[in-house]
Amino acid sequence: MYVRHLGLHDFRSWAVADLELEPGRMVFVGPNGFGKTNLVEALWYSTTLGSHRVSTDQPLIRAGSSRAVVSTIVVNEGRECAIDLEIAAGRANKARLNRSPVRSTREVVGVLRSVLFAPEDLALVRGDPSERRRYLDDLATMRRPTVAGVRADYDRVLRQRTALLKSLGGSRHRGDASALDTLDVWDSRLAEHGAQLMAARIDLVNQLAPEVEKSYQLLAPASRPASIAYRASIDGLAVADAPDNAGTDREFLEAALLAALAARRNAELERGMCLVGPHRDDLELRLGDQPAKGFASHGESWSFAVALRLASYELLRADGGEPVLLLDDVFAELDTARRQALAGVAESAEQVLITAAVLEDIPAGWDARRVHIDLRDEDAGRVSVVQR
Ligand SMILES: Nc1ncnc2c1ncn2[C@@H]1O[C@H](COP(=O)(O)OP(=O)(O)OP(=O)(O)O)[C@@H](O)[C@H]1O
Ligand SMILES: [Mg+2]
Repeated sequence: MYVRHLGLHDFRSWAVADLELEPGRMVFVGPNGFGKTNLVEALWYSTTLGSHRVSTDQPLIRAGSSRAVVSTIVVNEGRECAIDLEIAAGRANKARLNRSPVRSTREVVGVLRSVLFAPEDLALVRGDPSERRRYLDDLATMRRPTVAGVRADYDRVLRQRTALLKSLGGSRHRGDASALDTLDVWDSRLAEHGAQLMAARIDLVNQLAPEVEKSYQLLAPASRPASIAYRASIDGLAVADAPDNAGTDREFLEAALLAALAARRNAELERGMCLVGPHRDDLELRLGDQPAKGFASHGESWSFAVALRLASYELLRADGGEPVLLLDDVFAELDTARRQALAGVAESAEQVLITAAVLEDIPAGWDARRVHIDLRDEDAGRVSVVQR
C-alpha cells in the first residue's frame, strides 16, 4: 500500500500542505525544526489516531487555530480510499471515509497501515509500561480494527469503575450493601472487557515473539538473545491448572480477573483506584536472562526498539498489503551494521518516507525523490512550506 496524497490544514507548523507522494522512496529534507517530522507524525496519526510524540491532540493544532485537518489518499492494491480527519480543540474529532462522514473516528483505523521508526522509540525499552501497552494496542488495532472497540469499551469501564471507587472513599461504605452491589456489576464488566483486551494482546505477543527474536539477532548478532513476554497484573495466568491456551482463552482470563478483583477489593476501596486489569500490564523485554530495562546498554536498547518495529512490520506484511514505512531520523541514530539491516528491509517496501536533516544520513545508493522543506515568516506566523 502507499499514500498518494497528503493534505494538511493547520497541523503543527503546516498552515497548508498539499503533497503528491509516490510509491518507492521519498526523503523530506530540511534543517532542524522546519517541519519534517510533523509530516510523518500526520501520517502516523492517520494510522493510529494518536501522535508518537504527545499523548493529547492539542499540540497538533497549529498555534492560533481551533482545528487541524489531516487528509490522505491511500492506494491499496489499486483501490483508493480517502481519509479525512478533523482534530478539534475542546470538542469531538470527526472523520470521513471517501468523503462520507463516519459515526466514530475509530472506523478509519486499519485503512492506512504504517510502521514508524522514530527517536522516541527508545522509550519502548526505557519508558513506562504505558509505552509498551500502546505499542501492542496500536499494532493489534491496525491488524484487527475491531480491537479499537474493545479498547474503547475497556477505557470507558475503567473510568467509570475508578470514579465509583473514588466516590466510595476509604472504608466509609464498606457496610453499604447497595454500593457494593454496584461495584460487583462493574467488576463483571471490567473482567469481561479486560479479558477481551488481554486475549488480543497475548495473541499478538505470541506471534510477535519469534519475529522480535529474529530481528534483534539480525541487528545485534553479537549480543545476547532478545525475548518478549506478556506480563499480566494478575498472577492467575501462572496457576498449575491453567489450560495451554490460557493466555487467549477469554473465559479463563475473565475468571482470573474476577478472582483477582475479589482478592484486592479492600485495597482498591482503600486507595480509590483500579489495581487489577490490563491497564496495569506490561510487555516484558529481556536480553538473555536480564530485563532490558535498567540493564541493556544504549546500543542494545536501540537495537531492541528497532527490532520491535521490524517485528511489527513483518507481521503486517504477512497479513497481506505491505505497510508504509515511515523512518524519522533513524539512520542518523544507527551504526553501520544496523543501518544496513534496516535499509535491507526498506529495500523491499512498497513506500518508504524518510526524514533527514542532511542527505548524508540516507544510505548511499538510494535514489530517493527529495522534497525540500522550508520555513517562512508569514502573516500567520512561521509556517512550513515545500520548496518549489
Ligand atoms: N502546534 C504547533 N503550532 C505551530 N508550530 C508548531 C506546533 N507544534 C510544533 N510546531 C513547530 O514545528 C517545528 C518542529 O517541527 P518538526 O518536529 O517536524 O521539525 P523537524 O524538521 O523534524 O526537525 P528535526 O530535524 O530537528 O527533527 C518547531 O519549529 C515547532 O515550533
Ligand atoms: Mg524531526
